[in-house]
Amino acid sequence: MNGSIPDDKIEEIRSRADIASLIGEYVILKKAGKNYLGLCPFHREKTPSFTVSPDKQMFYCFGCSEGGNVFSFLMKLNHLTFPEAVRQLAKKVGVVIPERTMSREEKERYSLAEQIRQVNELAAGFFMKTLQSPAGEGAREYLRKRGIGESAIRTFRLGYAPEGWSNLLEFIEKKGISPKLAEQAGLLVERSGKSQGYYDRFRGRVMIPIEDADGHVIAFGGRIIGKGEPKYMNSPESVVYTKGNTLYGLSRTREAIREKGFALLVEGYFDLIALWNAGIPNVAAVLGTALTSAQVDLIRRYTARVAAVFDPDEAGRKALARSLELFLAGNVHARAVILPDGQDPDDFIRTHGREKMDEVLAKALPMAEYYIEQILGGRGTLEEDRDKLREAVSFLSRIENGVERNLFIKKVAEALAVDEDVLEKEVLRTLSRSPSAAPTALPRRTTAAEMDPSERELIRMMLEYPTRVSAVRDSEVLSCFRTEELKSLGEVLLAMDKVGKVMQDPSSLVTELTESPLRDKLLSLLVQESPYPEEKIDRSMADTIRKIRERANKERGRILTRKIKEAERTGDGELVDRLIAEMERLIKERASFS
Ligand code: CTP
Ligand code: MN
Repeated sequence: MNGSIPDDKIEEIRSRADIASLIGEYVILKKAGKNYLGLCPFHREKTPSFTVSPDKQMFYCFGCSEGGNVFSFLMKLNHLTFPEAVRQLAKKVGVVIPERTMSREEKERYSLAEQIRQVNELAAGFFMKTLQSPAGEGAREYLRKRGIGESAIRTFRLGYAPEGWSNLLEFIEKKGISPKLAEQAGLLVERSGKSQGYYDRFRGRVMIPIEDADGHVIAFGGRIIGKGEPKYMNSPESVVYTKGNTLYGLSRTREAIREKGFALLVEGYFDLIALWNAGIPNVAAVLGTALTSAQVDLIRRYTARVAAVFDPDEAGRKALARSLELFLAGNVHARAVILPDGQDPDDFIRTHGREKMDEVLAKALPMAEYYIEQILGGRGTLEEDRDKLREAVSFLSRIENGVERNLFIKKVAEALAVDEDVLEKEVLRTLSRSPSAAPTALPRRTTAAEMDPSERELIRMMLEYPTRVSAVRDSEVLSCFRTEELKSLGEVLLAMDKVGKVMQDPSSLVTELTESPLRDKLLSLLVQESPYPEEKIDRSMADTIRKIRERANKERGRILTRKIKEAERTGDGELVDRLIAEMERLIKERASFS
C-alpha cells in the first residue's frame, strides 16, 4: 500500500515526526494530562474532543471517530494518498526518499501537483529577481509610493513580471521545463487560432505569490502598476489552487494569529500586506470573493476568534450577513469591523496609522450583535421594515443550531419590534419549506458491534504493558474470548514481534484494523489515558484474566448441562459419562478461580 517507498524509510520518517507538534501546526492543542486536546479539524465542534497522544503517537476524535497516526492525519487533512503523506512528512522531518523509488503511475499522479508547485516556485524566483533588476524600477517605485517596505517585499516574496509576451516563457524553456506544465500552472497561456505556442499571462505587473499554509506557491496575483484594467490578473484555479479553499497570507501570518489569539480577516492582497507592514501581522485575506465555509474551517485551525472587515455599503451588508451564518455554523466567534468613509484597511492604516486601527478593532462589535442592531434594527418606512423582516427570517432560518436559532429569534424580535412567537412561526415555516436549510446532523460513524468489557480491558492492558503479555499467553485466556475481533487482535499481539511493533507505534493498529467494525472503539481505547498504574498492573491483569475465564467457564457449564440432559433423554450412556467427566474438570477449574 506504500507504493515503492521502502518500509525502513517510512519507519524512519514516522519515528522522527512528533504527532503533537505536527498536529499542533494545524490545530490549537491544550495539554490535558498526558494527552493534548483540541477542536477537531475534521468535524465541527464547540468543545474539544480531538485527542492527541504523544505517548502512542496517535490521534483520535471522540466526536467523529476519526483517528490514526501522523500519516493518516496528513492524508485526511490534505486529502493525500498514503505515499503522498509519507513524502510530505519526509520533507518536514528532513528524510530524503530516493526518487527512483517512485512508481510510474504514482509519479504521474503525484507529480502534476508537485511539478506545478515547483514551476510556480521557479516563477516566483524569476519575478522577485526581476523586481530588483533595472526593469523592476517602476514597480519598486510603485511599492514605495504605497508605503510597502523592504521586509514586507521579502516576506511576501513580491516580484515583477516585465512587459513583453515571452519573458517568463523563455526563462521556463531555458530551465528545460515544458511550457505545457507552466500553462497548467496558469503562468502561460496557449495561443489560439493559427498561431502556435504560448505567451506570458502576467505582463507589466507587480507579482504576489499565493502560498498554501505550508508556504508552497500555488498561484499568483498580479497588480497593474498604477491605474488600468484589469486591476488584478490572477492565476486560474488548478490542481493545487482552489480560490475558495485558500486564505491569502496565512503561511506568513499563522504564527502571529495564534499568538494574538485572533485573526483579522480582510479582502485584498494589499490590505494584508499593508497591515503586516504597519505592524499588524495577524491577518488573512479572502481575495475579493465571498467567504466560504472551507475558509472558515481553515482559519479555525489557528484561532476560533475572528474580526472581519466589511464595507458599509449594501454589498458589504450582504457579505456580512452571509459570513455571519458561516461563522455561526463554524463555531467561530466573529466581530464586525466597519471602517469609515468606505476606506479599506490599507487606505485606513495609511491615513490614520496603526493606533487608530487598534482602537477600531477594540471597539468592534460581535458580528451577530452588529447585524441585528445596526442592520436589522432601527425603524424605517413600511417597505424597508418589511424587507428587513424578510431578510431576518431568511437569516434566522439558516442558523443550523436550534438553540442558537431560538436565541437569535428573541433578539431579532426585539430589534425589529415584532412579536417573538409570530417571528418564530415564520422562521419555522421557511425552515420546513427548504430542506437544504434544515439542520444537518453531525457525521458520526456508528459501530453496531459491542465488545465484552473485560476482554476489551485485557487487550488494553496488553497494549499498555507489552512486557506483561506472557501472563495472557500462559493462561490461554484468549480461547475464552467471545468477542471475535478482540480475540484475533489478542492473537496478533501475542506474536511478540508484533507487540514490539505495536508498542513502538500503537497507531500502526489503525491499518490493521481498517476493516474491523470495532476500529473506532479500539482507537478510542488506545488514545485514552490508561487507568492501570504500573504497580497494580499484574494484579489487574490477573483479575481480568480470571474474570474472563470464569465467565467462559460458566457459559460452558450451562451448555454442558443442556447437553447432559439431552444425552440422558436419548439414553446415550457413554456420552453422558464423557460429558460428566468434562463437567468435573470445569468445576475443578472453577475452584481454582477463588
Ligand atoms: N480582485 C481581483 N480582481 C480585480 C479586483 C479585485 O482579483 N479586478 C481581488 C484581489 O484579490 C483584491 C481583492 O479582490 O486584492 C480586493 O479588491 P479591491 O478592494 O478592489 O482591491 P485592493 O485589494 O484594495 O487593491 P488595491 O489596493 O491595489 O486597489
Ligand atoms: Mn486597496
